[in-house]
Parts: sequence; C-alpha cells; structure tokens
Amino acid sequence: METLDNMLVSTWSNVHSSVPPSYVQPIENRPGKVISSSCKAIPVIDFGAHDHDDIAKQIFKASEEYGFFQVINHGVPTDLIDEAMNIFKEFHGMPPKEKVNECSRDPNGRCKLYTSSANYKSDAIQSWKDTLTHPCPPYGENMDYWPHKPSKYREVVGKYTIELRKLGLKILEVLSEGLGLTPSYFNEGLSENPALLVHHYPPCPDPSLTLGAAKHRDPSIITILLQQENVLGLQVHKDGEWIEVEPIPNAFVVNIGLLLQIISNGRLIGAEHRVVTNSSTSRTSVAYFIYPSSESIIEPSKDLVNENNAPIYKSMTFGEFNINFFNKGPKIESELQS
Ligand code: OGA
Ligand code: NI
Repeated sequence: METLDNMLVSTWSNVHSSVPPSYVQPIENRPGKVISSSCKAIPVIDFGAHDHDDIAKQIFKASEEYGFFQVINHGVPTDLIDEAMNIFKEFHGMPPKEKVNECSRDPNGRCKLYTSSANYKSDAIQSWKDTLTHPCPPYGENMDYWPHKPSKYREVVGKYTIELRKLGLKILEVLSEGLGLTPSYFNEGLSENPALLVHHYPPCPDPSLTLGAAKHRDPSIITILLQQENVLGLQVHKDGEWIEVEPIPNAFVVNIGLLLQIISNGRLIGAEHRVVTNSSTSRTSVAYFIYPSSESIIEPSKDLVNENNAPIYKSMTFGEFNINFFNKGPKIESELQS
C-alpha cells in the first residue's frame, strides 16, 4: 500500500517531468484567463486607520461585494509573522517520514498531515498540495499533539494563533455591527474551535493543467490567510471572472466563509476561490479557519430574519453541517436551502 510519506506531492514532484493523469483537471476547470491584480483587485483595508466608522464601512462593503479583502496595519507583530512563516516553510521542508511522524500523535486525528485534500480518496482529481492541519484552541492550550519539530513550532505557532484569534474577533465585531447584531455575537460558541491549515504547493511541471486547490467556498465563519511573499497563487471568482490576490508583505487576506453567508442570510458572500500552481517556486500559505463548536446552531440569525426577510437557509448544527460538507463537497449548497 502507498504510504502517506510517499504520496505527498513534495516527495515525488521534483522527480516527475510531467503531471500524473490523476492531477490533470478537466478542460473547463483549468486555469485560463485571469484578471491581473494590477487591473482589478480585492479591497485593501488599513485596519490601523483612525476613523473606526470608515474602516467598518469598508470592511462591510468588501464583504458584501467580494466576500474578500486584505488587511494591513492589523496589529499582529511583523517579526512574529516572519518567524511563523519560516517555521511553516521549514516544516514542509523536513524529510517526508519526519513530517508524517510529527503529525501522528493525536488519537482523534484532528492534528494531521494530508495530501491533495482532507478527502483524498473521494477527490475525482487530486490537488497539487500537501497540508498540515490542527486545531488551535483559543488560549493556546492542548498543544501536545502539534508537531514538536521544528523545535520552536509550538512556541511560535502558539503565539501566532493567539494573535490571529484577537484579530479574528475584532473583524467579526465589525461585521456584527454592520449586520446589526450585538458586537459580541461571534465571541463564544461560533468562534470556539479555530483550526490552522498550513498549505504547501510545490512547483508543478505544467501549471496550465493543474490546480493547487479547486474552486471552493470555505466551510468557516471567516478565514484569515497569510500568503508567502512574491508568489501568486490565490484567485477569487467574481462576476464570472478570476481575480488574482496580490501577496502584500505582512498583510492578511480575509474571506467570508459559507457559515457566515448562512448566518447573514445571504447578505455576506462566502466567495468562491481557488489556487493555481507555478513551475518555478513552491508556495506556502497559512489559513486560520474560525470554526464553531460542533453543537453550535448554524442558521440565518433570528435577529436578521422577519416577514420581509425570510430565512433562505435551513438550520443545522455545525456537526451536521460538517458531515454534509464532507459527503457533498461543493454540492452542499442545494442541501442548505430552506
Ligand atoms: C483554503 C484556501 C488559499 C491559499 O485554505 O481554504 O483557500 O492560498 N487557501 O492557500
Ligand atoms: Ni479556501
């Protein structure tokens, strides 16, 4: 049987001069025409500016129109960002068996390394990436299952995820106000189970045939993504076009997830996005997914629906949503309509 260390794209991609057939996307999904970020870009928001109302307005507008924006001056120290990014790159650069070993401590399997997607066996076409994922409890507790190598992983990533939780709650506060919900609406159950996904996209011999991640919406409340500098990859789908998300040093890309689309009764967009590969360099990106506790009810907020604004989505627990999402993938959307 093929073992995970042998299946990782980073293990074999440098000795292949062509793309294996199981990674070749059908023609309609291949990366085609793209709008360069110098022509059209997702909004960039200065979170450190003084006018709170103006920042709030910009964030809300971007979340309604694009479901995506970037934040700069967000308060997360840049040396911590650099240190964390270096450790994530170092992790994916370790020997394959070591990576697998470092992700094998968790008896519940929530801290794990996988290749392509969490659902490898049922993927029709494989994605050109490897991913390390683990929960990141709000106060930095329970880090024993996280990788112990690189040796500073737990110390640095512990600090990083605490900072991202603070930033995430600030952004959610602004979005709650914009929606007309209490500012602390997302502070408890709905943001209780964040997770980190550390993606590694090795160079690909023919980027015109493959995707690092196929078109999807995130199954999160919001996602806060750190992109490696100088390497393009992420693209957002808007009005039938693909727009590149320019990597801005020390900025975070924030996107609305499908759960917040449901809670806002469709007002905020869980925008579709994908990742393309390139032939010259590898790319590392780090997604912080804000997830609810599994008992949390996911439904259009009772504070937002009334006789003029009927709920367009069904109510289910996050646990039920997850089972649906795992089984149906992108087809989950028809399942969610009320
Ligand atoms: C994700 C995702 C984008 C990237 O983790 O869901 O879309 O650039 N990542 O890796
Ligand atoms: Ni995503």
